[in-house]
Amino acid sequence: EIYRASTTAPVNIAVIKYWGKRDPSLNLPTNSSLSVTLSQSDLRTHTTASCSPTYNSDSLLLNGSPQDTSGSRTQACFRELRSLRSELEKSDASLPKLSTQKLKIVSENNFPTAAGLASSAAGFAALVRAIADLYQLTATPTELSRIARQGSGSACRSLFGGYVSWEMGSAADGSDSLATEVAPSSHWPNIRAIILVASSAKKGVSSTSGMQQTVATSELFSHRAKVLVPERMTKMKDAIKRKDFAAFAELTMRDSNGFHATCADTYPPIFYLNDTSRAAIRVVENINAAAGRSIAAYTFDAGPNAVVYYLAEDEGAVAGVFKGFLGEKEGWGSERGGKVKVVEG
Ligand code: DP6
Repeated sequence: EIYRASTTAPVNIAVIKYWGKRDPSLNLPTNSSLSVTLSQSDLRTHTTASCSPTYNSDSLLLNGSPQDTSGSRTQACFRELRSLRSELEKSDASLPKLSTQKLKIVSENNFPTAAGLASSAAGFAALVRAIADLYQLTATPTELSRIARQGSGSACRSLFGGYVSWEMGSAADGSDSLATEVAPSSHWPNIRAIILVASSAKKGVSSTSGMQQTVATSELFSHRAKVLVPERMTKMKDAIKRKDFAAFAELTMRDSNGFHATCADTYPPIFYLNDTSRAAIRVVENINAAAGRSIAAYTFDAGPNAVVYYLAEDEGAVAGVFKGFLGEKEGWGSERGGKVKVVEG
């Protein structure tokens, strides 16, 4: 007999970035972070989890290729979810014993991994929720975020739609390092993101390794983590509550710039932005100068691709200008040179 459950999880793009771990094995961060979850129909991972007494080993297929499941991150997720299932089985003897069976996970992204987007966020969020559904766990998204975080830090934010914070917590065991909803997407539904694929080449320094190097060597880093980010978290939550796009935009751009400044201050330095990224920053500055207020906000993760947030009513002034600037039709770029895609927030 095979038991099976399917789910999807969306991509999220942080506007206050997670960068730095105080505990690398539990993925406990040195600062809280906040993201906007992108629309499921645009960018998401679809995952089916199944288990059966006939499976010989745990397995994971991503976009058709087998992945290693022996890594500590995947193992941590499997272990935590199995232990919750086993508690259920102990409390109700009529339940099938799924916790001892091997798992088979089949995942598909509806966006090219080559686009350099944070696929691990949607990937681990979908994996955790699919297994939680398979096991019929009653855990809330916040409880599941504790598990997804151990797969990839940013994944804990993809268990919610809309505006999501990951509160860093202070407990050594990570029990209070969890994601919570700041506001549902219906609170401020007209937010949009345009993604500029400045390079689809695989990034040079992974986030996991880059943030470790920054924590170990940057002298600017602790000011960012201890002073600037806590202030911005408060102001960002307030901007979202008030739907104040100009405030949201300035905080987003400052936090992206500050994060990349700590990368440049890492020794030896890490550079994620390229000439196309910097050109995109200039285009956003020009758009905002022409409008006389901030109607567009750029942000960059650990790579050169820009995500530009704006409101639907400014579609022409923002996405229109970007499309003209790039001279490309809407759609994903699979090679260098900057194609764009508009997605709903
Ligand atoms: C720049 O979540 O990929 O995108 O926890 O090591 O898997 P690990 O790192 P990851 O880091 C994401 C870093 C970021 C900022 C963010 O998403 O908050």
